Amino acid sequence: MTDYTPTREDKFSFGLWTVGWEGVDVFGSAVRAPLAPADAVHKLAELGAYGVTFHDNDVFPFDATAAQRADHIAAFRKALDETGLTVPMATTNLFGHPIFKDGGFTANHRDVRRFAIRKVVENIDLAVELGAKVYVCWGGREGAESGGAKDIRVALDRMKEAYDILGQYVLDQGYDLKFAVEPKPNEPRGDILLPTIGHALAFINELEHPELVGLNPEVGHEEMAGVNFAHGIAQALWHGKLFHVDLNGQHGPRFDQDLRFGAGNLRGAFWAVDTLENGGYDGPRHFDFKPPRTEDMEGVWESARGCMRNYLILREKSRAFRADPQVQAALAASKLDELARPTLAEGETLASLREEDWDDARIEALAERGMGFERLDQLAMDHLLGVAG
Ligand code: GCO
Ligand code: MN
Ligand code: MN
Repeated sequence: MTDYTPTREDKFSFGLWTVGWEGVDVFGSAVRAPLAPADAVHKLAELGAYGVTFHDNDVFPFDATAAQRADHIAAFRKALDETGLTVPMATTNLFGHPIFKDGGFTANHRDVRRFAIRKVVENIDLAVELGAKVYVCWGGREGAESGGAKDIRVALDRMKEAYDILGQYVLDQGYDLKFAVEPKPNEPRGDILLPTIGHALAFINELEHPELVGLNPEVGHEEMAGVNFAHGIAQALWHGKLFHVDLNGQHGPRFDQDLRFGAGNLRGAFWAVDTLENGGYDGPRHFDFKPPRTEDMEGVWESARGCMRNYLILREKSRAFRADPQVQAALAASKLDELARPTLAEGETLASLREEDWDDARIEALAERGMGFERLDQLAMDHLLGVAG
């Protein structure tokens, strides 16, 4: 590969809300005109994406009548048909309207929770109609700004109740659809429930149908929490729970920057790609970024192109890294092959492990041994910086 032009086989997808972001933020109004979903679909197809994802209210307004809703969906569907773009994932906007100021599934007000579940179910029907296999739940408003405002244990009961109701609905309908929880530590709430991959994994185990629910981790969200994204998705893969992924860029723990993929923590992005490519992940490479407010529409498309280009460059770097004989030798010197060997031999028991002789010399030799990780990491750096060989 030399020109890093994406193809549909690369499975790149984008949220309608990413390239369609008008730039409204806490401090300023829109800097770009609204982008019709059909126009986004056409342009993304032209750029080489294979899929597009949406919140219900990216396609039709919150207060649309049934007829208006149908018209908006028809225009979106027509663009999908014209381009052959797929809808691998869909989600619900449970954060924009003032009714969700205290959350959707865990709002203290019971009527709000009932309205939220109903809104999700209606959009699940549409998602399935459009062929989605994953339904993302990002609980951006599920949380609190102050300690007394939310009884966290009770709120988690309500969160579980919502997932159990939705899971049962999908089973009753015979839908081929799974849910993916998207963790985030904060923003827009002061603190959000299920703040990291680890919290979400533990929560899933408490559900009636844990097999229906996995994760949609986002690079920036984990890095906002100061944890290692590649490690997080590796663990999600280990649990069989990486159902989807939100790729973007972030400079450490601060507000959610939503930079294009590869911007921000570039080394982190390299290991994220390496993990996705070698860890058995087969799903969409989905970009959830916000083209900065400084950009006009040309800049928006440049930013979208950059997400895919950076992924392809990093994929190529990861492949070259893994294929490099020096790297393979360094991996062996660092005992990665030994890590893959069970600590007890087959048929061995703890008793035989305890019978083994340990003299001081053996302990000392192991204690003195260096691990060679600096050499291994410098090789990775050389590959990333384009000076390997
Ligand atoms: C954010 C989130 C969202 C979700 C989207 C899908 O921080 O704003 O990442 O972009 O991914 O709402 O549920
Ligand atoms: Mn985000
Ligand atoms: Mn996201």
